[in-house]
Amino acid sequence: MTHAQRVFSGVQPTGNLHLGNYLGAVREFVRMQDDYECIYCVVDLHAITVWQDPQALRDGIRELTAAFIACGLDPKKSIIFNQSQVPAHAQLGWVFNCVARLGWLNRMTQFKDKAGKDREKASIGLYDYPVLQAADILAYKATHVPIGEDQKQHLELSRDIAQKFNNDFGVENFFPLPEPLIRQEAARVMSLRDGSKKMSKSDPSDMSRINLTDDPETIAKKFKKAKTDPEPLPDSVEGLDARPEARNLVGIYAALSGKATAEVMKEFSGAQFGQFKPVLADLAVEKLSPIAGELRRLREDPGYIDSVLADGAERADAIAEPILREVYEIVGLLRTRGQ
Ligand code: TRP
Repeated sequence: MTHAQRVFSGVQPTGNLHLGNYLGAVREFVRMQDDYECIYCVVDLHAITVWQDPQALRDGIRELTAAFIACGLDPKKSIIFNQSQVPAHAQLGWVFNCVARLGWLNRMTQFKDKAGKDREKASIGLYDYPVLQAADILAYKATHVPIGEDQKQHLELSRDIAQKFNNDFGVENFFPLPEPLIRQEAARVMSLRDGSKKMSKSDPSDMSRINLTDDPETIAKKFKKAKTDPEPLPDSVEGLDARPEARNLVGIYAALSGKATAEVMKEFSGAQFGQFKPVLADLAVEKLSPIAGELRRLREDPGYIDSVLADGAERADAIAEPILREVYEIVGLLRTRGQ
């Protein structure tokens, strides 16, 4: 038996979406809608693994949902919902807590990074985060998971959990081993202030990122002030080696225009940043302003956003609940007829 192809991915509802999230993740989510059955989840249970102000969390859930829709996710085609509203995530997460091994979690590098020096003060939830992530994916028997490079290790853990569950209970192929769809390096958008750091919503400098809600003047200003080196643009892709800031701006241009990097290099070979940056800013404004406009409109209509989430949760639950029941039967928590 092969599993039907199904995509699942999640984004935390913390902070506004920026250009890096759009080019790196959400734009891919939009493209996949036509080829797969897609489930996109606002992972609010993951968000609370670190402290969240309750009102900011409520607002963040709506804001991310609105941003998903403004970027082109279609709530009729795809399932869009927030994790906490479908009980199977937490329920399957508990079963998986009893499948995953301490040694596996001890190897997770993201926990080490996020917990920092004072590991004793990290929440148990932060430690357990990747197990809940496995439950997110496998509650739907999802086969494909679009993620960034930084989530590769978590996806491998999901595969290990699926495999061990199938083996331990003698239910070969019950859970699929989900495949990562890793976004290529080209779509990796770096900070405008430091070409070696990812563009991030947690960077204290707002000048380091382009937010989806920035107005045209702000976008132009941020690109104008973006860090560069003094050399003109090279004539080949190799000429960008060891020039992280130049590579980043060229990469953003390529991603926004849909052109290959080599083509962009041909177009701008020998240009100064003083010439290139305004062209880049114009392109970014052209591509992002429809999204910003739609986002502003959706913010005025929280009733609609809430209805999308309620409908999504209902459809997600209809898939996950029967799978969870089967898990309970397999594990022995629930009797099947005749047992
Ligand atoms: N951990 C992911 C991130 O930070 C978010 C996430 C939660 C996720 N559950 C998921 C991604 C399931 C893919 C599949 O990016």
